[in-house]
Amino acid sequence: NRAHLTIDPYFTVGPVNRRLFGSFVEHLGRCVYDGIYEPGHPTADDQGYREDVIALVRELGVSTIRYPGGNFVSGYRWEDGIGPRDQRPRRLDLAWHSTETNEVGLDEFAGWLRKVGSELMYAVNLGTRGVQEALDVLEYANVPAGTRLSDLRIANGVPAPHDIRMWCLGNEMDGAWQLGHGTADEYASVAGKAARAMRQLDPDLELVVCGSSSAQMATFGSWERTVLEATYDEVDYISCHAYYEPKDGDYASFLASAVNMDRFIDSVAATADHVKAERRSTKTMYISFDEWNVWYQSRYQGERHTGLDDWPIAPRLLENTYSAMDAVVFGNLLISLLRHADRVTSASLAQLVNVIAPIMTEPGGPAWRQTTFYPFALTSRLARGEALEVKLDSPAYVSAQHGEATVVDAVATHDGGSGATAVFLVNRDEESPAEIEIDVRMLGGVGVRDAWTLSDKDPHAANTLEQQDRVRPAANPTAALTDGTVTITLPPVSWTALTLG
Ligand code: AHR
Repeated sequence: NRAHLTIDPYFTVGPVNRRLFGSFVEHLGRCVYDGIYEPGHPTADDQGYREDVIALVRELGVSTIRYPGGNFVSGYRWEDGIGPRDQRPRRLDLAWHSTETNEVGLDEFAGWLRKVGSELMYAVNLGTRGVQEALDVLEYANVPAGTRLSDLRIANGVPAPHDIRMWCLGNEMDGAWQLGHGTADEYASVAGKAARAMRQLDPDLELVVCGSSSAQMATFGSWERTVLEATYDEVDYISCHAYYEPKDGDYASFLASAVNMDRFIDSVAATADHVKAERRSTKTMYISFDEWNVWYQSRYQGERHTGLDDWPIAPRLLENTYSAMDAVVFGNLLISLLRHADRVTSASLAQLVNVIAPIMTEPGGPAWRQTTFYPFALTSRLARGEALEVKLDSPAYVSAQHGEATVVDAVATHDGGSGATAVFLVNRDEESPAEIEIDVRMLGGVGVRDAWTLSDKDPHAANTLEQQDRVRPAANPTAALTDGTVTITLPPVSWTALTLG
């Protein structure tokens, strides 16, 4: 396979928003308890947070973190998680059939975020609750002082407001599994009311309305149109959620997952622009891709607890182990997000610790990096400045699930200030390497700084408790520059980050 790429710093898509490198922490399984919070752990700080996890989250380079759900939020009473810990109630979490102890709530999580240096993106419950409860948590979180709920926050030991800018108006309300799920009209009505009310309290909020839980939903498209027709002037983003997994061993389709993500984003943007035209609006609706990942949903289907007497605390749920191939698909999803940097200005990798996560932990034991940790950390670190529209000529193949896909996929970013350029590439071929030529003449006299490639001779190899460092990126020695052309060889099923400057 041979592919050719031309990079021109003047062909920009849009600025790389740091919020593209967000993540998601839900009260689900061992994400919070035994994940970020484990008071008895040898590395726990004086508030019970694992410092080994904090260090890994920082290394991952996560900007915004969406919290507290997810499906969990649609049955959550936020006030259960504030005030003295010994007075907090235990509740049934219907979404994940677990017991919620409420040891961690809004104030603790905001405190943890300050330690990891990330921004809080808060989801309100529009499943079992509504406008008043959304206003209450907003008052508690953002009003400086002098009202019942802001003074309650101060009495709880948090003098400064949390000043949360991004708010999600519920979660996946199009899904029949969601507590309080209804029709698009029903959701549009409550989301519009909540948005207007929340803006009356704090006009500068950035509000995310629920789009579809996946592009495969029967209501996909009409859901977005109905919801945006009712809320267009009140909200700033519509959400997209997508998870990918191989089906029946069809890895060629799995490796083309980003083709599906590209189409999903383009379709939602087109629907939003349709509503914009209908309304003669000048406002652009942005996309918050606030759940995305590889997730072997079929593998983890049977693990849900059931029965009136079986509501475990922090059970092991959705503890997906990721392979080298999964990391390649994952890195390709990041390429798709960057390619749409003009439209997707916020995204959240679902999730962060233990639950379909780049970081795994054992109680009392180590924390380690899954294979997917690396493409996220490197892309977050290297993608700076503007996302570029690259000219790509690559052989293509036809995948059963997603149709035509190029063998090689790529995106680049360029930082005018430092002059640094980063190129992110994948080779989707399962058998053959790809020889890439990159025309970099328009970048001026640059040289190759670094080339990192993630691949493994066994594409199903993974990092596990027993073998935590099996898969990691290695320097790619084939990268070279001659007469304004960079050449590099990409192994089969691989993801690469190349920096020039
Ligand atoms: O991320 C896991 C779950 O996937 C979330 O709770 C839900 O929003 C989605 O269906």
